[in-house]
Amino acid sequence: MITAKEARERALSFLSQQGLEREFIENASVTVDRAEKLIEISREKKPQKILEIGTFVGVSTAVLGLCLPEAQIVCVDADFPVEFQNVLCLKQFEIKNHQQTNLYFVEQLLKHFGILKRFTLKRGFFSCCLANKQELDKAASYGIKLEDRAIIGPEVCEEYGAFDLAFLDGDHRKEAVKQDLMLLSGYIKSGGAIVLDDVGLDYWGREVRQGVEEFLQEHPQKEFKIEGQIGSISI
Ligand SMILES: C[S@@+](CC[C@H](N)C(=O)[O-])C[C@H]1O[C@@H](n2cnc3c(N)ncnc32)[C@H](O)[C@@H]1O
Repeated sequence: MITAKEARERALSFLSQQGLEREFIENASVTVDRAEKLIEISREKKPQKILEIGTFVGVSTAVLGLCLPEAQIVCVDADFPVEFQNVLCLKQFEIKNHQQTNLYFVEQLLKHFGILKRFTLKRGFFSCCLANKQELDKAASYGIKLEDRAIIGPEVCEEYGAFDLAFLDGDHRKEAVKQDLMLLSGYIKSGGAIVLDDVGLDYWGREVRQGVEEFLQEHPQKEFKIEGQIGSISI
């Protein structure tokens, strides 16, 4: 059985061969230890149906697909041009122009591994678009209107749910995390789990934790566990 580390490395080397700068991709994708924890939790649940929110160029997507060969996986991403991630990021990278959008690379990657048929790729915001004025301005000067992208989570959950497992790695703002969890939690089967990336002690980790805490205030019976940078909510 392939390990999460091997799967991640295979994804990164394919994406690098496609011309994406490795350091840039790695900055916004799961690290080895997070990929390992994600797969450890996921394998325990033996999921048949998974929902992933936030694919970027597909590193975590490929890890899930390669390590869980029985699972059908639905993925949602806002899907802007890859280079736009560099416009929004706090840390800027020297990258070439990448006009193709995130899901273009996800599709190439999954085709390369021969696992695309187990995936459904959906473009749009999951539960909300909470971009602030600075981000809207940056997007507008880049020629993108963020607010034009549809919110598709409710229809995706209705059409493809309920899921055994969800991996939430989209908008890390606390209000977005809370709204995503409010929507998601209604579509996870009993005994399933929502796994969250970035629950550490840095700026984004604190935002994600606060979003979870606000969600838990309204769902006090749910249990939240933190293991390094990966969190999980049992449903
Ligand atoms: C940190 S990256 C995901 C990295 C990926 N899970 C990995 O580890 O390889 C976050 C992604 O979430 C997407 N995103 C941000 N806000 C979103 C939202 N509200 N709905 C869906 N996708 C969103 C962005 O387009 C970006 O590709």
